[in-house]
Amino acid sequence: GPVPARRVASVRVSAAMAAVSGVTVKEVPTKPYEGQKTGTSGLRKKTKEFMQPNYLANWVQSLFAALGDEVKGKSLGLGGDGRYYGKEAAQIIIKLAAGNGFKRVVVGQDALMATPAASALIRQRKLYGGLIMSASHNPGGPENDFGIKFNYSGGEPAPERITDKIYGETTKVAVLNMADIPDVDLSKIGVTKFGDFEVEVVDPVADYLVVLKEVFDFPMLKTFLARKDFSLVFDAMHAVTGPYAKRILVEELGAPASCVKDGVPSPDFNGGHPDPNLTYAEELVKIMWADKAPAFGAASDGDGDRNMVLGDKFFVNPSDSVAIIAANAQACIPYFKQGLKGVARSMPTSGALDRVAADLKLPFFETPTGWKFFGNLMDAGKCSVCGEESFGTGGDHIREKDGIFAVLAWLSILAHANKGVPDGGKLVTVADVATKHWQKYGRNFFSRYDYEECASADADKMVAHLRDVIAKSKKGDKFGEFVLEKADDFEYVDPIDGSKASKQGLRFVFSDGSRIIFRLSGTGSSGATVRLYIEQYTNDPAKLQLDAQKALGPIIQVALEMSQLEKFTGRKEPTVIT
Ligand code: G6P
Ligand code: ZN
Repeated sequence: GPVPARRVASVRVSAAMAAVSGVTVKEVPTKPYEGQKTGTSGLRKKTKEFMQPNYLANWVQSLFAALGDEVKGKSLGLGGDGRYYGKEAAQIIIKLAAGNGFKRVVVGQDALMATPAASALIRQRKLYGGLIMSASHNPGGPENDFGIKFNYSGGEPAPERITDKIYGETTKVAVLNMADIPDVDLSKIGVTKFGDFEVEVVDPVADYLVVLKEVFDFPMLKTFLARKDFSLVFDAMHAVTGPYAKRILVEELGAPASCVKDGVPSPDFNGGHPDPNLTYAEELVKIMWADKAPAFGAASDGDGDRNMVLGDKFFVNPSDSVAIIAANAQACIPYFKQGLKGVARSMPTSGALDRVAADLKLPFFETPTGWKFFGNLMDAGKCSVCGEESFGTGGDHIREKDGIFAVLAWLSILAHANKGVPDGGKLVTVADVATKHWQKYGRNFFSRYDYEECASADADKMVAHLRDVIAKSKKGDKFGEFVLEKADDFEYVDPIDGSKASKQGLRFVFSDGSRIIFRLSGTGSSGATVRLYIEQYTNDPAKLQLDAQKALGPIIQVALEMSQLEKFTGRKEPTVIT
């Protein structure tokens, strides 16, 4: 709604408020904004909303208030995905950090820091936590989205007990504690001091690179990338991973500079939608489906936590990707050479990983959608590799999903598979690796249909209808050719802390293991996004190479009929098909 005119009261300066010695703190009066509800991905809003007077500052002040006295004397990490308003936001955050008692802010040069790199930075430097300025894969610029989130001391997204508290504080925030210090030059690496408070501008790649070098065999990867019969392209989509790809793939691993596509972060991602999927990464898709395509293609999202992996005219479904990485991790990735502690996937992600877990006798976990559910398992030493169908893959080296990790994992698998193959011989390709995996484990065909920006009321009606279908159906009921095994609303009890998450997705499981799942997205910024996930397993050698859409045709029809999706939402076609 319209924003009420804001009364500008006078600013009180009080030396007594000095939180850190040598820094004067101004008490700037403010008034709450409605709707600063914080999820685990932080606060995501239109950039223009964020640019209203004190809007960002209110939220950051509320975060610091929620954290309370424990921030005093601590160090805070800071950076973002390079989107519009990030540099201005960083200056505001630095002043608030000093004003609320932090003694140090460690900020990425030019206010840049990929999400996985922020997680690594917090862990490497044992920081108290970090703020990441990003709206992930959402478009950026003055007309699009901005966002901010807080990650805690393990490098993991803030738990609910903190996000709930932040929201409470945003509804009553009245004073901003702003240090009276000038803007800091974020373009130069080095330390600036204001009394006992300091700002350290760091290379946003360095700490993350140290972690990646502990995970992967860089010399082996470098030898592999030197092969003349191998070529790759990494599409940074004008977002934050450009500097990371240049440093890691080009400078460290010797790939040609030309392998990084759209590698300069742009405040509006060059007008694009920095989401690595077959729809939004269409330029990369074109390259990988052209004649004489590179052997390997990958893309990452705005803040570098998502990934898409492609071979020459070959799409690696993210559900397969995590299964293939898990199956090969011990042999190909030094960090996992003792074997995996366990693996995990989100509920809608296909069961390809389950088969690997069973084969390797690994503890296996099925969690609700959302990266936060993996953190507890990792902290408890029960999960080494995890992934989601939503283009997220990761390991327990950090506590965020990690796009570059997925890329290096795949390159490690390819390097290993090609060890005995002479340069110019018959290169083992991405498609070969996937095919070999399917031959061993069978293939879980998987597809996701997204219906973006539906009217919320319509989506809710469809969900109510599906709940009714679940209530009325029983084992043995037929849906088309498919015989129902069970139908429910997914619920998760965290095996570590016993917390319960209910209503995490409507699920129909059939006697042959096929599944139909409906969920409403928790990350959309307007209206409701309906997600329909379809999965069907085969171990018939004649069917392994079928096109997923063809293989899944009949079960998709069943899903559309049982949900009456078109009747409820008016949508004939999905917006995005994965
Ligand atoms: C973000 C989260 C993921 C989640 C994805 C899709 O990337 O970090 O954990 O899988 O969004 O979530 P959604 O609720 O939109 O399906
Ligand atoms: Zn992201």
